[in-house]
Formats: sequence, structure tokens, C-alpha cells
Amino acid sequence: MRLKGRDLIDLVDYTPEEILFIIESGLEFKRRFYTGERVINALPGRVIALLFEKPSTRTRVSFEVAARQLGASSIYLSWGELQLARGESLADTARTLSRYVDGIVARVKEHWKLIELAKYATIPVINGLSDLSHPVQALGDMMSILEKKGRLRGVKLAFIGDGSDNVLNSLLVSGSKLGLHITVASPRQLRPDENILKHALETAKDTGAIIEFTEDPYEAVRGADIVYTDVWVSMGQEALREEKVKLLKPYQVNSKLMSVAGSRALFMHCLPAKRGEEVTDDVIDGPQSIVWDQAENRLHIQKAILALLIP
Ligand code: CP
Ligand code: NVA
Repeated sequence: MRLKGRDLIDLVDYTPEEILFIIESGLEFKRRFYTGERVINALPGRVIALLFEKPSTRTRVSFEVAARQLGASSIYLSWGELQLARGESLADTARTLSRYVDGIVARVKEHWKLIELAKYATIPVINGLSDLSHPVQALGDMMSILEKKGRLRGVKLAFIGDGSDNVLNSLLVSGSKLGLHITVASPRQLRPDENILKHALETAKDTGAIIEFTEDPYEAVRGADIVYTDVWVSMGQEALREEKVKLLKPYQVNSKLMSVAGSRALFMHCLPAKRGEEVTDDVIDGPQSIVWDQAENRLHIQKAILALLIP
């Protein structure tokens, strides 16, 4: 399957077969890493630019390490230190970077900036999180679920908390393509992006995936294979803190909720976590939590993404 030269702005643009191919390639990179092949020279001499408008620990470090483990290198570009901060356009920035580097991973405050970058860049642009979506996170998460549960089709994932979350949007798109059963428990005021949800519901009709909503977190976790949550206040939403925390109080993932989920349920969180808000210490540090394996898998899936997309 040939994906060279493609952008990865959203998984909406990828077929189920392509998504599965990337995930299987991620698992293969992980296997090879643990059998001693720390460096696989798939991208010798290539340079990846990381253009970030918001903070990051996992995405930044895992992409930079992924590049090195592929024989490539990376340059971290803080948005505020580029001429962008003085008004140079995204179009001209994209045209310029295209003459120096082989791919751009961008983390942006507003999703349209990714689309603008991709329009003018002649190299692949990869979404490293926007206000709308986080596709590389969702790909890593699907890889983690396949690794832990041995399958994706029919896996019951309960997402508890902010129904308007960017990571949830990407879980819905990937989950609908891969046949998962996703139940979202959130206040009715917090719903996924309308277009993304429409795409996911349409896709589900073809793949047999199930997507459903409830306001009751206990109902959502019953029989779940995966209990997933994310922060209640995403980057850039600080002004909404008070309102969102009040709405989301009943949606904390704690030991009481996990006991209803049962012992086969695994706990996932994209991280960073706000301990004591969306999740308690005993759950995130407990035996059902796979958050560190989940974070590690970002490295392996992103090796697959870079190796497959960067020419
Ligand atoms: N999950 C994730 O993308 O984490 P960072 O914000 O640390 O990159
Ligand atoms: N929803 C979170 C995800 C962080 C990886 C945020 O956007 O801040």
C-alpha cells in the first residue's frame, strides 16, 4: 500500500484499510525495536520540522525520537520564534519550509491553520493536534487496543467526560472505520464536532461499528473493554474552566466507576492527566491502567506514520 507524499490532517481522509495498515506497521516497528533493531534506516538523511503553537511533551518527544530511530533528524520550531509571529503568512511559511525539510508535524490552536499549511506545502503535513482532532493519538490508541485485546472489531470503548474533546473526535473517526463499539458518556451540552460525528455515523453503517451517547457514565462503562477519558479543560479553553469543571464533575473516572466496568476493562488516557479531576490516582496508577504503554506506542505508531508518508 503506497501512502508516500500524503498529508495526515484527519483520519476522515483515510480508508479503514489504510488505517489498519498504519497500525500493523506500528506494531511491527515495536516488535523490531524490542528484538534489538533500535534504528531502522527507512528515512536516511530526511529532516522533519515540528511546528508547534501549543505545548507538548509526548507528541514532540515521540516524533523527534521516531525521526532519529528512522535515520532521519528533526527540528523543533516554536511558533512564536518564527516570522509567523511577526505576520508572515502560513502560506509563505509552508512554501519556505518545503524547500528545507521533508515533512511538517504541526500542532495548532485552530484547525484551519493545518489546512492552510497543507495547501501550500509541497511536503506532507501531519496533524500533531488541533482544537478539532488528534489523529496520531487515535492511531496510537487503536494500536494499543489491538495489542492488548487482540482485536479491534467489536471492542467496547466507553469514553467518559468531555464529549466535545479533540481526541474523542479522532477516536470516533478511527473507531467507526475499524468497527469498534463506542459509547460516549457526557453532558448533553458537550457533543463532538457535527461534521466529524456525521462522518463517523455514516461510516459505522458500512463497517458495523456502533456509536452511542448517554449522560450516565455508569451505563456507559458496563461491559466495557476500555474506559477512556481526557482532561476536562483542553489547551486553549482556560476561560471555560469553571463552567466545564462544574458540568463534568459527575464524570470522574474513579474506583467506583471502574468497579462497575469490571476487571477486564482497561483504563486509557491520552495524557497529560489532571489527577483528581477527570481521573483519580488509584485508577491511573492502578492495575487496569495502560497509560504508559499507550504513551510509548505513540513512538512506534509515529515511526510507521513517518516511514509510510515521508517521501
Ligand atoms: N497526548 C499528547 O499529545 O500529549 P502532549 O500534549 O504531551 O503531546
Ligand atoms: N484534549 C487535550 C489533549 C491533549 C493531548 C487538549 O487539547 O489539551
